[in-house]
Amino acid sequence: METYRSAFLQSLENPEDFWREQARSIDWFKFPETVLSRDDRGNHCWFADGEMNTAYLALDYHIDQGRGDDIALIHDSPVTGTISHFTFSRLRDEVARFAGVLRSLGVHKGDRVVIYLPMIPEAVIGMLACARIGAIHSVVFGGFAAKELAGRIDDAKPRVLLTASCGIEFTTVIPYKPLVDEALAIASHQVENCVIVQRPQCVAELGLADHDWRQVMAGAVPADCVKLAATDPLYILYTSGTTGKPKGVVRDNGGHAVALRYSMEAIYGARSGDTFWAASDVGWVVGHSYIVYGPLLAGCTTILFEGKPVRTPDAGTFWRVLEDHRVNIFFTAPTAFRAIRKEDPEGELLKGRELSDFRTLFVAGERTDLPTYQWLCDLLQVPVVDHWWQTETGWAIAANPMGIDPQKSKAGSVSLPMPGFDVRILSENHQQPGPGEEGDVVVRLPLPPGCLPTVWGDHDRYLDSYLTQHPGFFHTGDGGYFDQDGYLFIMGRTDDVINVAGHRLSTGELEEVVASHPAVAECAVIGIEDRDKGQIPIGILLLKDGVNITKNTLQQEVVAIVRRDIGAFANFKRLVVVSRLPKTRSGKILRQAMRKIADGMNFEIPATIDDPAILDEIRDELISDKIGFISESKI
Ligand code: COA
Ligand code: AMP
Repeated sequence: METYRSAFLQSLENPEDFWREQARSIDWFKFPETVLSRDDRGNHCWFADGEMNTAYLALDYHIDQGRGDDIALIHDSPVTGTISHFTFSRLRDEVARFAGVLRSLGVHKGDRVVIYLPMIPEAVIGMLACARIGAIHSVVFGGFAAKELAGRIDDAKPRVLLTASCGIEFTTVIPYKPLVDEALAIASHQVENCVIVQRPQCVAELGLADHDWRQVMAGAVPADCVKLAATDPLYILYTSGTTGKPKGVVRDNGGHAVALRYSMEAIYGARSGDTFWAASDVGWVVGHSYIVYGPLLAGCTTILFEGKPVRTPDAGTFWRVLEDHRVNIFFTAPTAFRAIRKEDPEGELLKGRELSDFRTLFVAGERTDLPTYQWLCDLLQVPVVDHWWQTETGWAIAANPMGIDPQKSKAGSVSLPMPGFDVRILSENHQQPGPGEEGDVVVRLPLPPGCLPTVWGDHDRYLDSYLTQHPGFFHTGDGGYFDQDGYLFIMGRTDDVINVAGHRLSTGELEEVVASHPAVAECAVIGIEDRDKGQIPIGILLLKDGVNITKNTLQQEVVAIVRRDIGAFANFKRLVVVSRLPKTRSGKILRQAMRKIADGMNFEIPATIDDPAILDEIRDELISDKIGFISESKI
């Protein structure tokens, strides 16, 4: 039997042999002779002369193997009270027809299509239809406000936009059409056509450039899979960086398919025919990799869940889905379990459920706190695997390889680097500290297949964001350490990215929005620890001279602006007004210093701060009961 250790060592010592072998697990149109090479920008790339099609591998391939009548996708939607099943054949036929619709709207290989949809089958169909004809999709999370959608439209410059008449949050119907219209009005790029899924909960009025999904599908001519180079882009997924402008992470076709196929077996232990459920959103990388592509590439049934872990209808929803669909492998963010545990601490709602098919639980997206980890282990009696990755990598950098050689787990750790990822800890001056000592978590180049080759339209930003801090290494933005047994511990971001309920946000972006309030002279946004959401953003504001506004009004107005310009999911609810912000002599706000105060760490005032009394004031505000740890104290 292959051991984790031998696979890991081979992947680093002889990456070409290792990944050539893994590449055999997918059905190429042309098997790549070149495994690892460099493109004309000097970038590493995988399988450069291979030809394939990701949608073919996800659907047609399984039908060719005689699995057309097996279930590929289950849409389980407690918010609409419906459950629907799609066989591989039905899903392929719908994807092929929708690919024909895109063709008829002038979408060709390399064109972009923005997808702004709730968790409905059309989101998966739209993604795979793009993949079928070589168009590049860019899915935008449905919780993003119009302005955020507009920014992504301007960057990706799509020919077509796919949306729905509404999304449903618990019992609230959220009309999408006004948001989309506003985004299109803000954006300077002109989108030629919009295709809209009309939902019965709220029917949208269509404009001249709008098409009703059902109507265009009725007359569609199915389109075949096109042959693509492995290095052709499959999608762009925007993620928060340190500045206000999100980064368009690009994913290629070939490396992505090989890496996901490998991860499904080696990490998740998934076999063809298994049922795999990732309770996330198609708008995030987890949704791309493990709701849509990974499970389908591996011939599994995937579940698209349109609901929440609580109140849809109660905190037993997850257990109901696990039982009803005989889920084998389940993956979600720890924040979801914190929400369940809060409502059902004793796990009463799990009792009596028949979960004998359930093998392993995987969590990722943020740190798992020890009480939640322990609660899950005790309650579920299956292995609970915390694993660490990010939008940039597309699959797990560190995990427990449950499919090849399960290792003992260690609470608080994300286990071991996965084959292909040569993870190191480096100090600021590029030294490797010893076991237990924290530093930047980096990955020695080349990154394995599946990881981003560039940032859409801005290769310099790719180099600046990831490759310049430690030459020869990819900078993950996370801090952490290895223990003496080689287990990795991730301690959190070292940059201005925060993680709110498993949602990645940039404090820089929040600051731009908060500073747009007319009373605000300057502001800093930092993430503070929160019992339920992991982290929560808090604004520290300096007001303009002579402004006359009460703190309550200010708070309500700033909160409303953030909800309007970014989205409610940012959970921006509290702010602190101060008389000065701590700055360096050159005028840079000392966010890290404030973050340390907020973390309640033992903080020594740096000599560069001009007025230490300000820090005391902020410290008092931040850690006093008035602000406290604030998840209950909504305004
Ligand atoms: N569309 C519109 N609004 C949305 C939204 C969406 N897709 N998602 C969240 N919101 C809104 C919520 O309705 C809520 O609004 P409110 O302030 O008016 O009540 C607000 O944003 C806060 O949302 P959130 O913090 O997400 O809380 P929640 O109760 O809606 O959901 C979880 C809790 C745990 C289910 C959710 O945060 C979650 O699924 N997190 C995991 C994210 C993830 O999958 N990350 C990937 C790593 S696995
Ligand atoms: P995203 O790109 O949205 O998937 O967010 C990636 C970031 O989430 C990482 O850089 C980490 O900061 C954090 N993260 C993801 N998984 C974990 C984990 N298992 N433990 C700790 N942090 C995590």
